[in-house]
Amino acid sequence: MVPALLILLGAMETLQTDLFPDKTFLLLPPVNFTIKVTGLAQVLLCWEPNPDQGQRTDTVKYHVKINAPQQEDYETRNSESKCETTLHQGFSASVRTILWRDHSFLASSWVSAEHKAPPGSPGTSIVNLTCTTNTAAGNFTDLLKSYQVSLHCTWLAGKDAPEDTQYFLYYRYGPWTEECQKYSKDTLNRNTACWFPRTFIHSKARDRLAVHVNGSSKHAAIKPFDQLFDTQAIDQPNPPMNVTAETEGSRLSIQWEKPVSAFPIHCFDYEVKIYNTKGYYQVEKTTTNAFVSTTDGVSKYSIQVRAAVSTACRAMGLWSKWSQPIYVGNEQKPITEWFLIMLTATICFVLLIFLFLCRIYHLWTKLFPPVPAPRSNIKDLIVTNNCEKAGSSETEIEGISYVEEPVFEILENSVF
Ligand SMILES: *[C@@H]1O[C@H](CO)[C@@H](O)[C@H](O)[C@H]1NC(C)=O
Ligand SMILES: *[C@@H]1O[C@H](CO)[C@@H](O)[C@H](O)[C@H]1NC(C)=O
Ligand SMILES: *[C@@H]1O[C@H](CO)[C@@H](O)[C@H](O)[C@H]1NC(C)=O
Ligand SMILES: *[C@@H]1O[C@H](CO)[C@@H](O)[C@H](O)[C@H]1NC(C)=O
Ligand SMILES: *[C@@H]1O[C@H](CO)[C@@H](O)[C@H](O)[C@H]1NC(C)=O
Repeated sequence: MVPALLILLGAMETLQTDLFPDKTFLLLPPVNFTIKVTGLAQVLLCWEPNPDQGQRTDTVKYHVKINAPQQEDYETRNSESKCETTLHQGFSASVRTILWRDHSFLASSWVSAEHKAPPGSPGTSIVNLTCTTNTAAGNFTDLLKSYQVSLHCTWLAGKDAPEDTQYFLYYRYGPWTEECQKYSKDTLNRNTACWFPRTFIHSKARDRLAVHVNGSSKHAAIKPFDQLFDTQAIDQPNPPMNVTAETEGSRLSIQWEKPVSAFPIHCFDYEVKIYNTKGYYQVEKTTTNAFVSTTDGVSKYSIQVRAAVSTACRAMGLWSKWSQPIYVGNEQKPITEWFLIMLTATICFVLLIFLFLCRIYHLWTKLFPPVPAPRSNIKDLIVTNNCEKAGSSETEIEGISYVEEPVFEILENSVF
């Protein structure tokens, strides 16, 4: 019993010495801490181990604390660290040496560095920046680039930006940076939207997209603006392709193909929208490329489908636009027939009015003075006859005869 107790005491002794190796041991802070801007909305933090530290530097780590624009902290063994962050409000960070040894924690004092906010008058930087990406079928001659991703951004001029302000947009994706070449302008000719038909953004992108908008003016320094976008959240898929629908009795079956996208067929969720002129409305979700519903057999139905990349393949993003509506059902034909009838009736009506005016103001004789009166009468009659022939349906003849009678009266009166 006694030897066991001694062994236990001995073990505690060694544990104590391990926990506090020597009370005078001091961790020194890193040296030469710098913040370098390495790209749009991107900085590299660099420091060196303290050369006076001597032994035990192999096990030290660094505790990095970002103070602005957003607080964040993490640990690293490296003596540098890359950071993606907006820089228009400035950037500041601190770092200290830390050491976990057995169960004790030692830390040096902090060293800090700062990147100053770029100059510019308040209220001159852009506001309400929004960006979306879209995938298009690319150049299939180059298999690696079979999809190309476009980028569209819009913004508003700052409320205190002078009228002569011009804005310039840049994006960075990974190591690639590009300046916008295709701007749209507001009424004061200031750039307020930009379109990149193709970018370096990968069609299944996961990295963040950095967008930088700066500007120039003769009257004020324009404050730049940075924003980081989650590429998965701003990507808008294309609508489904080749939507078709057919009815068989009251059964309505709808099919479509997956949108143009780098994502495979199992990566899509769909929404099908079915509605008719009588107020019927149905929106259904599905994960397959077909949908079956029922119709009342007498209405014309309009069908649209939209797509989103499902959470099975990436974080939930935006829905596509609705596909162009397609129509099924039997209301469509009567509408075109009606249109033709109305068109013919209108043409005849206009001709008759014209004839009527000619009679009243003797325009015909004014326009063609040498033509003798009897010939013009014959011409007029030919025109009216043509109208009568053109009308084929009952509705039309009714409509015309109503208009015709007074005209013929006038014709008879004036001719005879
Ligand atoms: C820190 O920077 C100074 C001056 O740039 C340089 O002389 C020195 O060697 C650097 N220290 C370390 C540990 O790299
Ligand atoms: C711009 O954004 C602000 C706040 O985010 C919002 O209140 C305002 O309505 C937006 N302006 C326009 C024109 O969209
Ligand atoms: C496809 O790429 C090749 C080579 O990159 C180019 O010559 C060709 O014009 C491209 N075709 C289209 C339609 O963009
Ligand atoms: C805007 O930013 C780009 C990229 O950083 C830079 O090359 C350009 O000189 C800046 N323009 C102005 C007017 O500040
Ligand atoms: C969609 O239809 C068009 C013609 O109707 C066809 O050329 C195309 O291949 C179809 N799309 C797909 C993905 O099958």
